[in-house]
Amino acid sequence: MVADRLEAAVGARGTASLVLAGGSTPRGSYGLLARAPLPWRQIHLYFGDERCVPPGHEESNYRMARETLIDPAGVPAESVHRIEAERDPEEAAAAYARDIVARLGPRPAFDVVLLGMGADGHTASLFPGSSVLDERSRLVAAARVAKLPTPRVTLTLPAFEGARAVLFLVTGADKAPALARALAGRADPGTPASCIRSGGEVVWLVDAAAASALGETTP
Ligand code: 6PG
Repeated sequence: MVADRLEAAVGARGTASLVLAGGSTPRGSYGLLARAPLPWRQIHLYFGDERCVPPGHEESNYRMARETLIDPAGVPAESVHRIEAERDPEEAAAAYARDIVARLGPRPAFDVVLLGMGADGHTASLFPGSSVLDERSRLVAAARVAKLPTPRVTLTLPAFEGARAVLFLVTGADKAPALARALAGRADPGTPASCIRSGGEVVWLVDAAAASALGETTP
């Protein structure tokens, strides 16, 4: 699914852009993707969000991607667009936005965006009730969440709107209530995953446990 879309993008435009999700759910999928015979030199990797820690920190989304995908697949450094979240969060957000715009323009059309979802319905680092959900112009913002030990840097809702495909990866019974809310059909800031809109397709890849609260009528 992801590999096919990336291969098609490279075939059509000579390059592809993949936004990686953080957290732990994607680890297995990244390991499988790393084994796909893809033209990684033409595939540029971005990050949906990052924790404000050094890139080698155990909480770093970059470190997780490096261990599971970047190193095993041999993705060249020039194809990896890391969020330099060890810097001042606002500076890191501005630098990452400049990097995105330089390659993809002010309204980026990422070929594939991978996203996870927390049990509270957050996605990337867009958390329930966060003022970052109201951001309508900047592509990247710093996010400070009271319950989190460190600030975050995250793509904002406008950054996703031009995506050609958004794929959510959601597993586990703890996410079932949020998934039901996210798929209820309306954008609810209390469940930020429900606010993700894109001009392309939005696909939810979920396991039975995460889907256990979906009613018969849920699309
Ligand atoms: C992060 C992620 C975040 C993640 C969800 C789900 O930096 O934490 O970007 O949005 O996708 O929290 O995390 P798990 O996959 O670990 O459940």
